[in-house]
Amino acid sequence: MNDTIQSNLDTAIKAMDIVKQYGFGSSTITVLNNISITINKGEIISIVGPSGAGKSTLLNIIGCLDTFQHGYVQVLDQDISPFSYDELATFRNKHIGFIFQMHNLMPEFTALENTMMPLLIRRVSKKEAKHKAFELLENFKMADRAGHKPAELSGGECQRVAVARALITQPDIILADEPTGNLDRKNSDILIELLFNDCKDKGSTAMVVTHDQSIAAKTQRIITLIDGMIQSETMN
Ligand SMILES: Nc1ncnc2c1ncn2[C@@H]1O[C@H](COP(=O)(O)OP(=O)(O)OP(=O)(O)O)[C@@H](O)[C@H]1O
Ligand SMILES: [Mg+2]
Repeated sequence: MNDTIQSNLDTAIKAMDIVKQYGFGSSTITVLNNISITINKGEIISIVGPSGAGKSTLLNIIGCLDTFQHGYVQVLDQDISPFSYDELATFRNKHIGFIFQMHNLMPEFTALENTMMPLLIRRVSKKEAKHKAFELLENFKMADRAGHKPAELSGGECQRVAVARALITQPDIILADEPTGNLDRKNSDILIELLFNDCKDKGSTAMVVTHDQSIAAKTQRIITLIDGMIQSETMN
């Protein structure tokens, strides 16, 4: 199927006619209803919409974290639809940085160790991973907190570590699901600036799910999802 996809060199993500359903027969729920979306390399876009619209589901599918029933998803010229679980995990580690709403840091590890983890999975040496993770945490004004575990950090600090962990592999694509969901205005602005500046510096592509209009306003394009369908696309 891969060979049949007409790809454009500037395209980072192309999802076509995605249908995601739960249940069977008369109890089937359609969560994504023929979603098609194309995102260019280097673009930073936001996904907005009411709770339950399907925003996380869409992000998880593009991020190789969830399956779907119909359509195809191409990420960086690769049709990920036929991938096995292991192939999805490998592809994700190589190309995608995912930032979860509730940071999903590993509680038993320090900020530094959490940040290093994607590099260790790639079998980068511990010394190099540690050096890179510390450098990134320093940029994020988190150097003095590097040895602390998530329970000893504030919500804003945990989210900064989660962003550092997503960026440490210099991924081509950043997917962020309400990365500032539980942060106050000041911490939210700090986090978004760190994230967007890094994307712009590295030329990475970013999709950010947010309820925050001021964050959406900082992205190049706002896609509004309602009831599993794209209701509108607005260029900023
Ligand atoms: N495992 C599941 N089984 C059945 N329905 C599910 C399942 N997971 C999610 N859903 C439903 O899919 C719909 C979309 O969920 P999703 O998490 O994508 O919404 P969302 O737009 O991210 O909402 P929020 O803004 O609250 O995070 C919701 O109606 C949800 O109840
Ligand atoms: Mg969600």
